[in-house]
Amino acid sequence: MENLIEIQNVYKTYQLGKVGSQALNDVSLSVRKGEIVVILGPSGSGKTTLLNVVSGLDKISKGKILYQGKNIAKYRDYKMTRFRKKNLGFIFQTYNLLEHLNVYENVLVGASLGKAKVDINSIIDTVGLKKHRKKYMYQLSGGEQQRVSIARALAKNPSVMFCDEPTGALDEKTGKVVLQSLVEANEKLGTTMIIVTHNPGIALIGDRTVRMNSGKIIEIKENEKRMDPIEIPWG
Ligand SMILES: Nc1ncnc2c1ncn2[C@@H]1O[C@H](COP(=O)(O)OP(=O)(O)OP(=O)(O)O)[C@@H](O)[C@H]1O
Ligand SMILES: [Mg+2]
Repeated sequence: MENLIEIQNVYKTYQLGKVGSQALNDVSLSVRKGEIVVILGPSGSGKTTLLNVVSGLDKISKGKILYQGKNIAKYRDYKMTRFRKKNLGFIFQTYNLLEHLNVYENVLVGASLGKAKVDINSIIDTVGLKKHRKKYMYQLSGGEQQRVSIARALAKNPSVMFCDEPTGALDEKTGKVVLQSLVEANEKLGTTMIIVTHNPGIALIGDRTVRMNSGKIIEIKENEKRMDPIEIPWG
């Protein structure tokens, strides 16, 4: 499989007064097109920082981040924003949905960010919310709301989805349904997924597991095959 993203010798230092805190310390990783990569590591190990710099939400201190050979670390803000809007999707632990809009309309807002012509109903179907199309957010469970946010992110047909603790606020049963939606989207649409989590069981749903500690990648492991989210151990 061809590489979609190449992270090369990336450093990120946060300046706190006179001292610098090194959140990323010489991180290199290639992500293949259509791959599901799961990033594991203890709190403070740099997982969110890595997502934020790879998705252009934050600047790196040193290194390169190549998307199909183009170094986005060099992009100016307006160019970065345009790139992000067009190509990248985001899922967070909190759902950030529009409360005064129903499911269909929330997904429509996502679609309006991209240029891709998409079938909103079929995306809602992909995340298993067909029956709930007309519901408002307060009428949905946490897992259903997270699936709305996945549908919203998918609606612009991003090439990469960045998921930071997507099941962090969910129980096992709901969390697994949410993971199934992510895998389904990957299989149907070919969306590359980068998932950050504390939960080691989640690593089994992906193609590769990346372990971080103290701002460094300490292990990259290839999974023999993907496990169905229903079957993974939880926590
Ligand atoms: N904006 C910031 N300013 C200063 N330091 C920061 C900032 N963001 C993160 N850090 C520091 O960088 C390090 C890595 O943080 P990061 O949020 O990437 O960890 P994480 O692996 O995502 O942790 P968690 O699992 O708790 O979410 C931590 O030591 C953190 O305190
Ligand atoms: Mg984090």
